Amino acid sequence: MTMLGIIGGTGMTQLDGLVIEREQALATPWGAPSSPLLHGRFAGIPLVFLARHGFDHDLPPHLVNYRANCWALREAGVRRVVAVNAVGGISGDCGPGSLVIPDQLIDYTWGRAHTYCDGEAEPLRHVDFTEPYTNEVREWLLWAGAAAGLEPRDGGIYAATQGPRLETAAEVDRLARDGCDVIGMTGMPEAALARELGLEYACCAVVVNWAAGRGGDIHEELEQWVETGMAAARRLLEFALSGEDAA
Ligand code: HPA
Repeated sequence: MTMLGIIGGTGMTQLDGLVIEREQALATPWGAPSSPLLHGRFAGIPLVFLARHGFDHDLPPHLVNYRANCWALREAGVRRVVAVNAVGGISGDCGPGSLVIPDQLIDYTWGRAHTYCDGEAEPLRHVDFTEPYTNEVREWLLWAGAAAGLEPRDGGIYAATQGPRLETAAEVDRLARDGCDVIGMTGMPEAALARELGLEYACCAVVVNWAAGRGGDIHEELEQWVETGMAAARRLLEFALSGEDAA
């Protein structure tokens, strides 16, 4: 069975229901990952969990060591990664509480260590990123979401913004004109680094607010949407893993 890694973001600094068997603090050539890796069983299936912002959620999106995180997961034997990311919704059908399995992304981040091809340790390679997410993993998540009665949105464009501030209304209008459906701060360079390492990778985006200027006060009810959205993501993962043999 392909070893699964889950990268939990805001609202998922731990994976409730994970029966932890071992904690692994891994050093990588790129520095330390955000947290030790938790090896354990979820829905009876072995997996590895990593808290993207650290167990205490004290690492802001632009300071996460994405290179160390992806590297550590691969070192630990992970070959398939599900990234859970809290996002803001832009498109009308991406309101708070919904789950989106994006099929595309646009990278608006800057100044982040975004490649292993540093001209020294790793030779230059231009990886194919036409389809930034692994379709087989996306299909698996969509199947699990449907089985769980969650109806995740099939596809959409994830806008990766720099943060940590939220966007202006005009910036969100521009992202909408670019065709983006949801916005988050951690989708990149993680997805590209996973591709450079040959990891299968897909994103489960959990909408926790309307994007700036798209209705409502961003912080109003945010905590509640984070909680219910992440509970839904956990349920989706449970179905995905329980149906591992059927998928
Ligand atoms: N913008 C960017 N990142 C986010 C948002 C948002 O509105 N909500 C959660 N992550």
